[in-house]
Amino acid sequence: MSKQFDVIVIGGGPGGYIAAIRAAQLGFNVACIDEWKNDKGGPAPGGTCTNVGCIPSKALLQSSEHFNHANHHFAEHGITATGVSMDVAKMLARKNTVVKQNNDGILYLFKKNKIAFFHGRGSFLKAAEGGYEIKVDGAAEETITGKQIIIATGSNARALPGTPFDEVNVLSNDGALNIGAVPKKLGLIGSGVIGLEMGSVWKRLGADVTILEGLPTFLGAVDEGVAKEAFKAFTKQGLKIELGVKVGEIKNGKKGVSVAYTNAKGEAQTLDVDKLIVSIGRVPNTIGLNPEAVGLALDERGAIVVDADCKTNLPGVWAVGDVVRGPMLAHKAEEEGVAVAERIAGQHGHVNFNTIPWVIYTSPEIAWVGRTEQQLKADGVAYKAGQFPFLANGRARALGDTTGFVKFLADAKTDEILGVHIVGPQASELISEAVVAMEFKASAEDIARICHAHPSLSEATKEAALAVDKRTLNF
Ligand code: FAD
Ligand code: NAI
Repeated sequence: MSKQFDVIVIGGGPGGYIAAIRAAQLGFNVACIDEWKNDKGGPAPGGTCTNVGCIPSKALLQSSEHFNHANHHFAEHGITATGVSMDVAKMLARKNTVVKQNNDGILYLFKKNKIAFFHGRGSFLKAAEGGYEIKVDGAAEETITGKQIIIATGSNARALPGTPFDEVNVLSNDGALNIGAVPKKLGLIGSGVIGLEMGSVWKRLGADVTILEGLPTFLGAVDEGVAKEAFKAFTKQGLKIELGVKVGEIKNGKKGVSVAYTNAKGEAQTLDVDKLIVSIGRVPNTIGLNPEAVGLALDERGAIVVDADCKTNLPGVWAVGDVVRGPMLAHKAEEEGVAVAERIAGQHGHVNFNTIPWVIYTSPEIAWVGRTEQQLKADGVAYKAGQFPFLANGRARALGDTTGFVKFLADAKTDEILGVHIVGPQASELISEAVVAMEFKASAEDIARICHAHPSLSEATKEAALAVDKRTLNF
């Protein structure tokens, strides 16, 4: 007889492993299946985020930021750093160590929570008495049965039609995190989150970086004022970003990659680069899951169809994270994983899509929560805006990083915070205060009246809230 579980989670990324832990905490007998392999063929749970996403990209951003500081910012502090060089192999090895620490951490958490971990591919066999039979293709093949199934199989990088990733010259996020030497010329298609983060890493290390973006607007989903400020900063750093291009034929040869495109004026152009990163979005992943075996419904994008509670069309089958609708973010996947485990336990798990923060880990960092000014205008909402520049913040001056600002958008009548947008130092950390405030339906005045430590970057948040009522104290 096959092993029986209350809950089987397919996929061990942030959506899956967190769902498994929460389900185990709630007293269920839980299995988690994940197929990711490390370079030795062993298990490497954590999914895209841990292996080729959030964690390794932030490790490289940190290393390249140190290099950039040593080269360009130490001098102003009176520090002489001569002969600064970057050992790329060592940087990559450090990144791999950080990834492994996270893989091992998750394996430890599985043990701690008594979750049965299966290393291999999970696929639906059939609906069984009170649940589903799942085949695990790992070192050995076995069948396990679960009363409830949570699918968290994530997403894959989207390739340009006719230009497959070879991960040597034409790179997805995977190859982009493993370039063995600083390319002289690096091209990127798509100036979204990956394009900007990866472009920043290799630009800081000395590559000549050009990003080709299809849309005429830079960071269209970001508040216009923030996008404008960020574009200015990136251009000043030497990132070349061409908007409104149409990418044509791509030739991948021995010497590199040649990209034919038309620019915004309709002129034919060619970009010749040593490496090309294609970062044009991601597609939901159900490869090998065998959804047909049980009649699991997918939409036209290949995403698993779910309702607001992450229920699929099949009783007892749930799906969370990148494989379903909504933003492809690790923390969104985690929140859905927790909520589903709680719903299985008969509780009222909830995910507030209005307060999911976004962060782009460039320099300056970009972070936001809630609606942008252009969205409020489009929705016909009467609002007040308040903005405070880091230039007027003492801590930012001491840090030597005064780019950007904090911007509050509040309801014109009730003063409820509708959106907070930050471009500048530590935006990724500062945004949390805004998330908490919005979750508690705070007004801008609430933040304006809270004592913030001095000197701290968070004072810019308070001042931006004060700016909504036109009473900044330091500007
Ligand atoms: P995944 O993390 O993709 O995990 C899915 C797992 O399921 C994988 O391990 C996969 O091998 C496994 N799997 C798939 N099918 C099967 C099967 N049939 N059987 C067994 N196992 C299976 N998000 C952020 O919030 N912050 C960031 O800073 C950030 N940075 C990113 C940087 C990059 C370069 C990329 C590419 C993404 C980044 N993301 C970031 C997005 C984030 O990685 C995803 O939103 C997140 O990983 C989604 O989690 P998930 O659990 O849904 O899927
Ligand atoms: P993205 O959706 O952020 O950006 C893709 C960009 O490519 C868009 O600007 C789009 O207009 C452009 N594009 C699409 N097709 C094109 C074409 N044919 N030619 C030129 N431009 C084209 O996707 P990206 O950067 O690949 O990242 C995927 C997802 O991964 C993100 O949306 C995000 O959810 C997640 N991620 C999150 C990070 C974070 O939270 N810091 C970091 C990296 C990724």
